[in-house]
Amino acid sequence: MASRRTTRDFLSTPVSDELIDQLLTDAMTAPSWSNTRPYLVGIAKGEQRDRIAGELLKRWEAAARALRDGLWGKIRLLITRTGLPTSDYKVFRPYPKELVPRQQRVGAELYGLLGIKRDDQAARQAQWARNYEFFGAPVELFIFTHSGLGEYSVSDAGLFMQNLMLSAHARGLGSCAQGAVALWADPIRKEFNIPRGYKLLCGIAIGYPSDHKVNSFKAERLDISEIKLKNA
Ligand SMILES: Cc1cc2nc3c(=O)[nH]c(=O)nc-3n(C[C@H](O)[C@H](O)[C@H](O)COP(=O)(O)O)c2cc1C
Repeated sequence: MASRRTTRDFLSTPVSDELIDQLLTDAMTAPSWSNTRPYLVGIAKGEQRDRIAGELLKRWEAAARALRDGLWGKIRLLITRTGLPTSDYKVFRPYPKELVPRQQRVGAELYGLLGIKRDDQAARQAQWARNYEFFGAPVELFIFTHSGLGEYSVSDAGLFMQNLMLSAHARGLGSCAQGAVALWADPIRKEFNIPRGYKLLCGIAIGYPSDHKVNSFKAERLDISEIKLKNA
């Protein structure tokens, strides 16, 4: 558990179908609300993976251009609509005030490791764009959760995802949970037969880690005193 770290650069080495099935089997040992397992997984590899990545990248490039171009960029985004979020869940929200320092710290440390300056918007955007090629991973999993169970289906999916990522780590694979890919649900939804009620929560990139320095990044692990409530 302690040695698992998010992987953000993968080798193109394929991951066998048997291994993917093993990760899913391990993940299914997670507890679940009334054993309902209110989640479904889309597995994208090969041409399907490339097609989804290409479409997400196109959306991101339109959105990033709008961010760079200020007001006019935003107006263009509204007119062309290419790049506007089409997510099932609200993916990005303003961080609650007390959580902002943690979010800023991980961003500063990750970009710092990569030598990207705070005001270098182009380099930051280029690094973020790597999300949309799944950091080179040959397999991208898409996690859908049943909206009918509300927060508990999302919590169940979290338990499932953590098991899956620990199993991947134990088997020499790397993983990256990716909220970024849920920003545009339609290019993913059209690739799978998704029953009514299921919403795209996030992606998980799976593959063998490269030796790129981004994979040496060690996000701070908070001391438990930070999460222990004081008595009233
Ligand atoms: C639901 C979820 C979504 C995430 N989305 C992204 C993402 O879009 N891109 C990314 O690079 N990392 C993403 N992460 C990885 C976190 O940034 C990472 O887990 C955190 O910084 C702690 O680092 P560690 O996993 O190496 O311990 C996500 C993690 C979770 C749990």
